[in-house]
Amino acid sequence: MIIDYTETGRIIASLTEGETDEVALMATVVCELHHADDRFDWTGFYRVVAPDLLKIGPYQGGHGCLVIPFSRGVCGAAARTGAVQLVDDVDAFPGHIACASSTRSEIVLPVRAGDGRLIGVLDIDSDRPAAFTEADSAGLSAILRSVFGDL
Ligand code: SME
Repeated sequence: MIIDYTETGRIIASLTEGETDEVALMATVVCELHHADDRFDWTGFYRVVAPDLLKIGPYQGGHGCLVIPFSRGVCGAAARTGAVQLVDDVDAFPGHIACASSTRSEIVLPVRAGDGRLIGVLDIDSDRPAAFTEADSAGLSAILRSVFGDL
């Protein structure tokens, strides 16, 4: 099963209408995304909780590490640079943090509020190599913008 971003975006929009609590929004987004695509083996948010520091937010899948400084890992790189990280082979990414040894590839997107403030990052990990494409980046970015862009 491959995700239909338009349809999943519609479901998320209807589930989250009127909600402004960041954790409630994150929990709903990860639940809907995680169950919509067989490539997604770990789906979760890391939240910015202090300057240059990410902490685990709502997620689905096996346990994730709790704290990630901006200086570390794929999540840190997304938070530091503000750019989507598409990693085809996690073993080739310097400083990748392996929460699950089964992970082969991942995508991490920055999450911003409407005023541009960085709220956190969305991390999706796959046990398949090179699981993610620019289409995933575009589809996920659109959903994140529509959910968090009004905060
Ligand atoms: N792989 C991520 C860490 C988070 S976990 O995989 C859930 C990283 O390198 O930032």
